[in-house]
Amino acid sequence: MNKPTDIGKNRTGVAASPIDSRRLETGAQIDAPMPTDGYLLETERVRWAREAPPVGTVPPPASVKGVVKTALEGMKGHKATVLLDKLGERIAFERTGTRLYEALLAKVEAAHVHVGGPTRGEVEKIRDDERQHFALLRDCMIQLGGDPTAMTPGADVIAVASTGWVQVLADPRTTLTQCLDIMLTAELADNDGWSLLIELVQGMKQDEIASRFRTALEEEDEHLVKVRGWVSAALVGQAGVAPTPEQPGTRA
Ligand SMILES: [Fe+2]
Ligand SMILES: [Fe+2]
Repeated sequence: MNKPTDIGKNRTGVAASPIDSRRLETGAQIDAPMPTDGYLLETERVRWAREAPPVGTVPPPASVKGVVKTALEGMKGHKATVLLDKLGERIAFERTGTRLYEALLAKVEAAHVHVGGPTRGEVEKIRDDERQHFALLRDCMIQLGGDPTAMTPGADVIAVASTGWVQVLADPRTTLTQCLDIMLTAELADNDGWSLLIELVQGMKQDEIASRFRTALEEEDEHLVKVRGWVSAALVGQAGVAPTPEQPGTRA
C-alpha cells in the first residue's frame, strides 16, 4: 500500500500544470475583485468583538457547604471563577487527551512501528495517566464547589480548538507518524496547561491542590519526552537518516 511520503497522483500546486496556472494567473488579474482590504476587515472584526457576548459564563457554585465554604473563604480576594473556568478547561482537555490516546492505540496496532516508536503498553500507560488527571481535576472541581459536568467557557473553547486533533486521529487514512505529530502538539499544550494551573492555584493559596497538580505535571513531563522521542524515531526511520545524539526523546 502507498505511504503518504510516496510520490503519487497529487495534482495540487501550480507546477502540476504550467499552462493552466498561467491562464489562472492571467484570469485572476483580469476578473478578480479588488483585493481584500485588511484594515477594513480588521475594523469590522473589532466592531463585532466589542459587541459580541462571551461564548459562555461560569455556573454558580453547586454547593456552598462545609469544605467547599472553607475552600472558597481561602480564596478571598481572588476571583474563584477564573480558577473554576480553568479547571473546566483542563477537565475537557484531559478527557479529550484520553480519547486521543485511545484512538492512537489503533494506529499503533495497524502500523509498522519504527525502532524507538511507541509500544501498546506505553500508549496505554499515558492514556491511563490522562484519565487519572481527568479524575483528579474532577475531584478538585467538586472540592472547590464547582460542577465538573458543566462546560465552562474555557472548556468550550478548547473543545472547539481540539476538534481538528480528534479528526486526524480518528481518520483511518492517517498514519501513526502523522498522529504522533498531533500528539506532540497536544502534549506541549497539556504541559503548559498544567504549569499555568499550578501557578494559579498557588497564587490562590490552594497548597494541597497545587501539590497534587505538581505530581500530574511530572507525569506530563514524562509524556512529552516519550512523544518527542517517538516523533523523532518515526521521522529518522522514514527518512533513513541516522539519529543525532539528542534523539530520540532525550530533550526534557
Ligand atoms: Fe494530560
Ligand atoms: Fe499528557
